[in-house]
Amino acid sequence: MPLRQHGRKARFIMSVKIIGTGSALPKLQVTNADLEKLVDTSDEWIRERTGIRGRHISTGETLVSLTAQACAGALENAGRAASEVELLLVATCSPERGIPCAACQVQSVLGAQKAVAFDLNAACAGFLFALNTAYAYVEAGIYRNALVAGGEVLSKIVDWTDRGTCVLFGDGAGAVMVEKCDKGGLLGFVQHSDGRKGEVLRCDSRELKNPYVSLPMEAPYVQMDGREVFAFAVRRVPESILEVLEQTHTDIEEVDLFLLHQANRRIIEGIAKRLSVDISRFPTNLDRVGNMSSAAIPVLLDELNRQGRLRPGMKLVLSGFGAGLTYGAGVMEWQ
Ligand code: COA
Repeated sequence: MPLRQHGRKARFIMSVKIIGTGSALPKLQVTNADLEKLVDTSDEWIRERTGIRGRHISTGETLVSLTAQACAGALENAGRAASEVELLLVATCSPERGIPCAACQVQSVLGAQKAVAFDLNAACAGFLFALNTAYAYVEAGIYRNALVAGGEVLSKIVDWTDRGTCVLFGDGAGAVMVEKCDKGGLLGFVQHSDGRKGEVLRCDSRELKNPYVSLPMEAPYVQMDGREVFAFAVRRVPESILEVLEQTHTDIEEVDLFLLHQANRRIIEGIAKRLSVDISRFPTNLDRVGNMSSAAIPVLLDELNRQGRLRPGMKLVLSGFGAGLTYGAGVMEWQ
């Protein structure tokens, strides 16, 4: 067993790799021109400020149905059966139900009866945090494999009269299957949270209403200080990428592709500039799907995988950031 530096502790560990990917998007595609009919906006404004041209919006697809479809795709791509899954994690901030958790509902749809299933909410960094959680469980030998999904139906928590937010988001789900391996695969992660900045991007869940009190919700739909979020992302994401590269002894020039949370093309360009890395190494799909929060990274990963753009030995950096505020990065060698 190799001795690997993980955070501040050195310990004996096994490696963990992604063996399959999957994704699912709602059927309805909504263009910027469609949104011009809903709010005072324009295709030109949305494209220039964000890079987004369209997004998929649910007309009945649920977080559970989309996530189960993405998980089924990842299992098929991995050549594994649902009955083999030992851990099932769903990262989401837009579940249909408070209880049971989405992961248990997805487990039921898939028939992954052996799996331990639970949700994780770190907003747009959710998939990255869930992948690191799965990595820790599998690396420690607690489970042999894990199905890790990020899914959102953000259209139900967005205020469709607020042009400052409704043009940004989309619905969808992505998933990966991970399994232990001898070497390579996931090389390391860093994660950060700053609860002091929670107010800049928030959405209440339910009002406190019982026989003794009735308090109205302060933010029944997504509320955002876009400029604050923009500045946070452009500053903190490069820092976390450099941190994880240092932790995993990876030179930035070795990295083939940087798969960032797909929030805004200008944010990605700002991060590339700060890292002095050519923008061609930052693949994007946000022009077609918008910001899908925790689904963004796994959907992008699945698209690249199915397009044959990921070759064995390639080094990938994943980085997520969002409400919380939460952010982090991971490095992997594709196998
Ligand atoms: N269409 C047209 N005009 C719009 C608009 C829209 N959809 N949304 C906002 N505007 C207007 C504003 O009302 C403002 O008008 P005013 O100057 O008359 O007051 C003007 O455009 C500029 O608004 P501002 O918020 O300063 O624009 P911006 O350049 O900061 O871009 C965002 C706004 C939201 C695109 C940008 O701040 C951003 O992308 N932030 C990060 C958001 C994000 O990624 N969040 C999720 C993170 S996980």
